[in-house]
Amino acid sequence: MNPILTVEQAKALDRLALEEYGIPVSTLMENAGRSLAGKVIELLGKQAGFSTERAVIPAKPARPAGGAGMSILASPPRNPSPPRKRGPRFSTIFRKMVYNLDSRFRGNDSFRGNDRAAWIFCGSGNNGGDGLVAARFLHQNNIPVVVFLVGSKEKFKGEALAQLQKVEEIQIPIKLMSDFETLNKEFKLHPPQKLIVIDAILGTGFHGEPRPPALLAIKAINDLKKNHPGKVTVLAADIPSGLNGDEGFTETEAVRADTTLTFAAPKQGLTVNSAQAYIGNLEVVDIGIPTELLQSVTNNKSS
Ligand SMILES: NC(=O)c1ccc[n+]([C@@H]2O[C@H](COP(=O)([O-])OP(=O)(O)OC[C@H]3O[C@@H](n4cnc5c(N)ncnc54)[C@H](OP(=O)(O)O)[C@@H]3O)[C@@H](O)[C@H]2O)c1
Repeated sequence: MNPILTVEQAKALDRLALEEYGIPVSTLMENAGRSLAGKVIELLGKQAGFSTERAVIPAKPARPAGGAGMSILASPPRNPSPPRKRGPRFSTIFRKMVYNLDSRFRGNDSFRGNDRAAWIFCGSGNNGGDGLVAARFLHQNNIPVVVFLVGSKEKFKGEALAQLQKVEEIQIPIKLMSDFETLNKEFKLHPPQKLIVIDAILGTGFHGEPRPPALLAIKAINDLKKNHPGKVTVLAADIPSGLNGDEGFTETEAVRADTTLTFAAPKQGLTVNSAQAYIGNLEVVDIGIPTELLQSVTNNKSS
């Protein structure tokens, strides 16, 4: 039988992966975020003519290298090469032009010239951390990314904070929910062919009913999708935000995803009737939890 995880079991998995197999949350998060990025690239590839073959996701997180293959959408390297003794070569001049263009695009977050983009809404827990990892991989693959922090930066801690710092380091544009309307107007003026929205606001740590600013972000995602049919695709990380990991939909509002990538195994809340309208296509992703651990946790009702 395919395993299904309660919230308690999902938490136990994290803990036991570290205690019994030495697999830290950072590794699981890296794998989860990378799978989200891979799905975005696949969705863009299918729908915007972007070849997934060219979009190689590196095995290890690395700073985008300067020089050959660099896109106008990638950030400039932080440590430029040492100054040359003779006059600048053509490639150096060209690279500078590229960087200038790059900063112009980043300065106003314009969609002009981009036929595809990703907006990633990240909460301050580990679900948000998954989204931040995805942002890094997408940026490395030259997909224009904007990260929206759902909550103040001060709320981020642990692995989610570590991921936020990496995203800041490579200068991915980071916005707050208060910036959303400005970007939304820009989107309406210069829409890309395709916008993928990653919902990494609330995962299995969500309980009760969504409070602001998470509630605002959930509504913003649903409005984007409703107002731009065919242009906006919503991808949920682990579970659409607003669904309870054990009970499914409760009563306020939840993200209406087109695809949900759930990590390790479906969460119980995804299997109940009330959740079905919010999940879209459900895909289970292996994030490196050993099979025997997954089996032992799902067989053990008390874990
Ligand atoms: N199991 C695995 O194998 C694995 C591995 C890697 C990553 N992950 C990811 O980690 C996630 C779980 O991470 P997590 O335990 O840190 O929890 P989380 O799902 O990220 O949720 C925690 C966050 O949700 C907020 N929150 C909770 N209830 C809320 C409400 N009613 N309204 C608004 N905000 C609310 C919390 O804020 P407050 O503190 O203010 O309440 C906190 O910021 C999974 O869903 C998955 O995406 C899982």
